[in-house]
Amino acid sequence: MNNSWISDKVAIITGGASGIGQAIAVEAARMGAISVIADIDEDKGLQTTEFIRKGGGQAHFIKTDVTDTKAVAKLRAEAKQLGAIKYLANSAGLQTYGTVDSTSEQSWDKTMDVNLKSMFLVSQEIVPEIRSNEGGGIVLISSIQGLRCQKNVLAYATAKGAVIAMTRSMGLDHASEGIYVNCICPGSIDTPLLRYGASQHGPVEAVLEEWGQQHPIGRIGTAQEIAKTALFLWSPNSNFIIGQAIVADGGLGSIIL
Ligand SMILES: NC(=O)c1ccc[n+]([C@@H]2O[C@H](COP(=O)([O-])OP(=O)(O)OC[C@H]3O[C@@H](n4cnc5c(N)ncnc54)[C@H](O)[C@@H]3O)[C@@H](O)[C@H]2O)c1
Repeated sequence: MNNSWISDKVAIITGGASGIGQAIAVEAARMGAISVIADIDEDKGLQTTEFIRKGGGQAHFIKTDVTDTKAVAKLRAEAKQLGAIKYLANSAGLQTYGTVDSTSEQSWDKTMDVNLKSMFLVSQEIVPEIRSNEGGGIVLISSIQGLRCQKNVLAYATAKGAVIAMTRSMGLDHASEGIYVNCICPGSIDTPLLRYGASQHGPVEAVLEEWGQQHPIGRIGTAQEIAKTALFLWSPNSNFIIGQAIVADGGLGSIIL
């Protein structure tokens, strides 16, 4: 398959300044898309844009707090000036820890705002654009923790589970419009977010090695591996996949104990 389906089309990637979102922005641009990086981190957003452009790709950074309705409306208005918006990846997210006893209301609200409500706000602005451009693809980044669980991640796991339900709902609502919505449930992926989590447990490299051994594949994943999955889900190769949670976890979620 050639890349004409994505070539010179606008792909918006929230959280595109780091980790999984950054890898999606780089991979999309490598395939010919105009990658629009929507992130609150201006320094890393501009660095990513620069990196893509130096490699011959097309990229723009639009500073966006994805929990802010006005900022998301501005993202839409500016991105549509760049070309036909046809693809969206909602990857912005943060990791929080706590049980029902230890999670503050503030931490709960922030986790829900960034990891869940933002996907609603951004999709609400971008779905009409994709519709008016004769369809395209949307990928939401959930987590294996939306399907399975570990201890002490009450709010995060709740938000990620809700993202899976949201994906199913959006998938059904928009399939007939040629807008294909799916989510990815990654296992442990080597990103700044995971490294922050590892630092809470001990020396980072040793913890990542230990976590990698817990995955049947024997290692943690790379952001590029998730990016390849996202590009597949955007592509015409996967058009019969609708509203699904695609697990990309090196086998982690299949373990009984
Ligand atoms: N890394 C993993 O192991 C892993 C596993 C499963 C799921 N995920 C999910 O993947 C997604 C990306 O995570 P990552 O590991 O790449 O993390 P990361 O920390 O490397 O990147 C997250 C990006 O989101 C941005 N962001 C945070 N709040 C924002 C806001 N309000 N507005 C705009 N941008 C904001 C950050 O600035 C950052 O650039 C998250 O949704 C995360 O929950 C990650």
